[in-house]
Amino acid sequence: MIREVLRMGDPRLLQKSAPVENFGTQALFELLRDLRDTMEAHNGAGLAAPQIGVPLRVVIFGVQKNPRYPDAEEVPFTVLCNPVLVPLGEEMEEDWEGCLSVPGLRGWVPRHARLRYAGFDAHGRRFEREVAGFHARVVQHECDHLDGILYPMRMRDLHRFGYTEVLFPGQPALEE
Ligand code: NI
Repeated sequence: MIREVLRMGDPRLLQKSAPVENFGTQALFELLRDLRDTMEAHNGAGLAAPQIGVPLRVVIFGVQKNPRYPDAEEVPFTVLCNPVLVPLGEEMEEDWEGCLSVPGLRGWVPRHARLRYAGFDAHGRRFEREVAGFHARVVQHECDHLDGILYPMRMRDLHRFGYTEVLFPGQPALEE
């Protein structure tokens, strides 16, 4: 089911979410289906459970190769529960981000260039990956939602914050 995406200003987006305790349940599968339906309906690159008002440490993300977004790197569709992120090295990278909870806007956001992340799938199976670039950026963006952090809070230069259609006229946009 497509759910309403909460927008910046809603206090529920600023809360710290609780870990998933029970895996493989109908409730978790339903949450994941709603997240996926909602993300796809908005053409998102990722979505976190608190964005639909569910304060659990669950995110999904994924980007298919799409001619409409020639610059977007492919990221496998991933369900990530109770994530733990460990930056690899000191290097930071800045790039544009958008967010379904901050619709229509883009900001220039610093993120760790490389990281290892671990977590659990819907059945409670643990997995771990080392990633860089756009994949690393999407994971950091989504997992920030679990701690009540929206990307504008990570920005260092508010000169590079604006409306997508003004910054990038004529270009479709991916939002997270
Ligand atoms: Ni977001």
